[in-house]
Amino acid sequence: MRTSQPKTIYLSEYQVPAYLVDHVDLRFELFEEGARVHSTLSVRRNPESPNRSGQFELDGDSLLKLESAALDGRALEEGEYTAGSSGMVVPGVPDEFELNVVTWLEPQNNTRLEGLYKSSGMFCTQCEAEGFRCITYFPDRPDVMSRYRTRVEADLAHYPVLLSNGNDVDRGELGDGRHFVTWEDPFPKPSYLFALVAGDLVEKKDAFTTESGREIDLRMYVEPRNAQKCDHALASLKRAMRWDEEVYGREYDLNIFMIVAVDDFNMGAMENKGLNIFNSSCVLASEDTATDIAFERIESIVAHEYFHNWSGNRVTCRDWFQLSLKEGFTVFRDTEFSSDVGSATVKRIEDVTMLRTAQFAEDAGPMAHPVRPSSYMEITNFYTLTIYEKGAEVVRMIRTLLGPELFRQGSDLYFDRHDGQAVTTDDFVRAMEDASGRDLSQFRLWYEQAGTPVLKVTDDYDSARGVYSLTIRQHIPDTPGQKNKLPQHIPFGVGLLDSHGNSLPLQMSASDEAEITERVLELTDAEHIFEFHGLAERPVPSLLRGFTAPVRLVYPWTREQSMFLMSHDPDGFNRWDAGQRLAVDVINSLVGKPSETPVEPRLVTAYRSLISNAELDQALVAKMLLLPSEAYLFEITDEADVQAIHTARNRVLNELALTLRDELVACYHRNHQSGPYELTPQAIAQRALRNTALAWLLHINDDEGRELALRQFQEAGNMTDQSGALRALVNSDFEDDRERALESFYQQWQKDPQVIEQWFSIQTSSPRAGRLANVRALLEHEAFDWKNPNKVRSVIGGFAGQNLVQFHNPDASGYQFLAEQICRLDDSNPQIAARLVSPLTRWRKFARLYREGMKAALEKVRDKEGLSADVYEVVHKSLAD
Ligand code: TRP
Ligand code: ZN
Repeated sequence: MRTSQPKTIYLSEYQVPAYLVDHVDLRFELFEEGARVHSTLSVRRNPESPNRSGQFELDGDSLLKLESAALDGRALEEGEYTAGSSGMVVPGVPDEFELNVVTWLEPQNNTRLEGLYKSSGMFCTQCEAEGFRCITYFPDRPDVMSRYRTRVEADLAHYPVLLSNGNDVDRGELGDGRHFVTWEDPFPKPSYLFALVAGDLVEKKDAFTTESGREIDLRMYVEPRNAQKCDHALASLKRAMRWDEEVYGREYDLNIFMIVAVDDFNMGAMENKGLNIFNSSCVLASEDTATDIAFERIESIVAHEYFHNWSGNRVTCRDWFQLSLKEGFTVFRDTEFSSDVGSATVKRIEDVTMLRTAQFAEDAGPMAHPVRPSSYMEITNFYTLTIYEKGAEVVRMIRTLLGPELFRQGSDLYFDRHDGQAVTTDDFVRAMEDASGRDLSQFRLWYEQAGTPVLKVTDDYDSARGVYSLTIRQHIPDTPGQKNKLPQHIPFGVGLLDSHGNSLPLQMSASDEAEITERVLELTDAEHIFEFHGLAERPVPSLLRGFTAPVRLVYPWTREQSMFLMSHDPDGFNRWDAGQRLAVDVINSLVGKPSETPVEPRLVTAYRSLISNAELDQALVAKMLLLPSEAYLFEITDEADVQAIHTARNRVLNELALTLRDELVACYHRNHQSGPYELTPQAIAQRALRNTALAWLLHINDDEGRELALRQFQEAGNMTDQSGALRALVNSDFEDDRERALESFYQQWQKDPQVIEQWFSIQTSSPRAGRLANVRALLEHEAFDWKNPNKVRSVIGGFAGQNLVQFHNPDASGYQFLAEQICRLDDSNPQIAARLVSPLTRWRKFARLYREGMKAALEKVRDKEGLSADVYEVVHKSLAD
């Protein structure tokens, strides 16, 4: 067991740094047996700090071995400082001085993948949030901003490419087969944005001319085997650069922008100044190896990291409680970018699905925290859906309330006012207020209160007066450490339809002659009543259009209303949402019912018209056809019984597929593509429809479907189609075909790690192929690698996170399995181990049958010898009453 409890950090205890570091001079000597880091800091007392202790404090880590330290050129002796695994203290320093520190590291043995480490033979770094302290002793906090000069030295033959932030200002040979490159970054930055890469990489060059006519060098560095997988990322980068100029007026600032791909990476990518480092799976793509989903993910992540150059780097966070200042805002920016270059409705559907399935779950569980948390133990546990996705929704609501023009003025003011500063979410909101003249004081509660607001809506129609009224009550549930919350300021999009599907004018009083058919109502009180006048019949309400706020909407929908909106709502998002609601209602009505209970025939009718009508927006249809996931159905149920939900959902899927079998075959053929691979929303929709048709046909083990899948698997010209066919076969009962296809896919792609990750997760996330014994066998597979987070995520995460029915085996074997793997990973990579705990955290929400087993698994992890602070925090918060 862990003997001491990790320390909790509180926002309320924030103090400005006692010392500032204006300049950092680094020299890295890289060797096979380790790395020596020489650091020279130009330090001065912070005039704004009341702290006059004369004591300079630096953060550190157990990965550091201090070799020497000197102050203003004089070596410090024992007794003149203390240094250990958590930091270094130098007492009695003058107001201005230079501190020299030499540390020794072993990057080749660094399995945590923070600080300086090795990935497939190259050196790379990951410093956010607190990794710089694993490289050298330093006041490792984002409000200490410095100019960096970095000299990297390594063997020329093995590491011809040496990179760091900024511009390369010097290079040369050192004798002994070694060489060096010196980099200088003119922009002051926090230590978390520092980066270094050294390796034998190929360079892909491109260029971008900014709006003001500056020529920017774009360079992508990858291992030689990936040279053909760079085009999409570079094209995405250029689109993102142009978009940020057009939509936010933000130009790139350095003369060079570099992207590096590494195979071993804890997260998706990192926005280091001028030197973004990416997880290979989030940047490398070619049509034969990457699915449409991967192409879209790459485009949005490349954009995300690029957008951080302004929202994160030029204007950064004062402390880590402000993380959403950069992440929420940047996700909002990348979301809008993706909507603009693709299908906006589809993008909104995807984002809201994720939000409602996973972020709402987080907000209702033991790890719930506000967008701006007030305490944490391990900051890496707070790179959450709440900080990222809910944070983006909060920025979106500000834009909805202000309108696009004032929002743009607000963002201009924010960037101008705070350029070069480390600021807070409050500074962001203030800039929006100052530019717009609007009062956002109540709105700020979105940053302070955790939990998803519940909106209960009821309605009434007074035929004598021709008045329809909506009553909206808001309530925010209690979350750990937060009770009795205040009402929040919520924008609520609304429209009304007549019985022919026409949009009605929304007249809010008897004298209102407005023609507009869509409004954003503003909720500020616990209860509001809104009246709509001049209505000759009871309208059908279209509520929360476009999902204007991240809330749970409760309204007594009838199936008639949902079906009506499914085909008539002019808001594409709400049309989709109505279809989901209908499907949820039908599935839920079958949970726990005998298998002869009939499936609502109107659902089948609705799906038939979706599948058969080629006139509809096919991108929207492709989304509407997808039944709500088990994870979502589970999320909206109290005391959830996973097996019962799975059975009911399967029943509906079977019924739909059996009844609509001929339509599915026709849909499959209608969406056949002949020409070259294209990434337009239409082409993507066609592939999605075709693969959904295939999946449904194989779900019912249809023979013609089997033929189609086998042929598609053989002849596919792109990975979307090939893996779609493989997935369909894997999820069927055609066991021989499944095994043959898996084997041949492996033979074809075994040298490509990105494809093999998909091969793993197609199996582990499959209710049919992903039985625990098979998953255990995959852990022994030659392609599995415990040190590679992507492989761990695709095998262990695919099973525990995406295969609900196998993971939640009532015999608790899945839970014990996960506990075992978390304990194993905790020793090598605590960040990854802590993320894997997540499927167990909500044990209280499950039916009795599951609860005890989940709790026991958490306790097993809790009792592990030498538990990391990362896992400690998640497990203890999950078990707390
Ligand atoms: N800032 C990164 C982003 O763009 C997140 C990130 C990358 C990260 N690597 C990390 C966070 C390691 C914590 C630890 O979202
Ligand atoms: Zn980010």
